[in-house]
Amino acid sequence: MSEQGSESPDAAPAGGGPDAGDGRRGTGPALEVESLFLRRGDRVVFDDLSARFPAGKISVVTGPSGSGKTTLLRVIACLLRPDRGRVLADGHDLVGLPRADVREFRERVGMLFQGGALLDSMTVFDNVALPLREHTRESEDAIRRQVHTAFRAVGLDRVDALLPGELSGGMVKRAGLARALIGAPDILLCDEPFSGLDPPTVRRVEELLVDINRRTRATLILTSHHMATTRRMADQLVMLLEGGALTGPPETLIAQGDSQVLDFFDQPTEGAEARRAEARG
Ligand SMILES: Nc1ncnc2c1ncn2[C@@H]1O[C@H](COP(=O)(O)OP(=O)(O)OP(=O)(O)O)[C@@H](O)[C@H]1O
Ligand SMILES: [Mg+2]
Repeated sequence: MSEQGSESPDAAPAGGGPDAGDGRRGTGPALEVESLFLRRGDRVVFDDLSARFPAGKISVVTGPSGSGKTTLLRVIACLLRPDRGRVLADGHDLVGLPRADVREFRERVGMLFQGGALLDSMTVFDNVALPLREHTRESEDAIRRQVHTAFRAVGLDRVDALLPGELSGGMVKRAGLARALIGAPDILLCDEPFSGLDPPTVRRVEELLVDINRRTRATLILTSHHMATTRRMADQLVMLLEGGALTGPPETLIAQGDSQVLDFFDQPTEGAEARRAEARG
């Protein structure tokens, strides 16, 4: 295996998820990374990182800028191969699978990229239709219906003919999410879905993601710095810190009182309490 985290071939965003056939869907898979080691350039990003993402639940990955949140999503989506370690979906290791199996797995994954990653020269409609046109042989009529269903789901209207450059930041985010939802993925990975949005839109995207998770039972992993939102929506929090990850429900991690966790949630730490007591005399 290569010494450095290597980009997998065909690293195009996937999203043409499976058709359940009988119209019913199961719960998305349990995802897990185990003993990951990954180097990018001369920097070790993961040194023995392990974390679990429960089936059909919402996990939020947080941690300082540069701690590897985006990298972790890319590893889970099989867009980036770790130098060592395992990436498991329902217990099956995805690292080192034959290319055809990786492609099949990727078709179950919807991904919202940090920054949207829409193609600038293509209309918003064509951007969202792209995964279906690339991964399925569906008719244009069927594609149009699915794209409009996805637009409705994210609250976008009359954007078909617009170019991404003609959308506001919040609309770009929602168009990226519409593309991630195309094909009914059972794994939804959202990189910073709330960044750059105004508070009402944050709330709206939060409700949308929770609703998608409850309705589709997809396993949802998102990265975020919005701790109030995280506290409301996360079943599981994975906090990337120096020396590994802390994992658990947000309230459990807060109750454990680790100062790095409390700092993130802007909760008083013992030291801060003592300083305040001192200030009060
Ligand atoms: N393509 C790349 N080549 C070399 N190093 C990279 C590459 N992508 C990321 N890195 C490095 O990997 C580390 C983790 O980056 P990553 O983007 O995963 O962080 P992040 O937690 O998502 O940060 P942010 O909160 O700013 O989005 C950083 O040190 C970054 O410089
Ligand atoms: Mg990032």
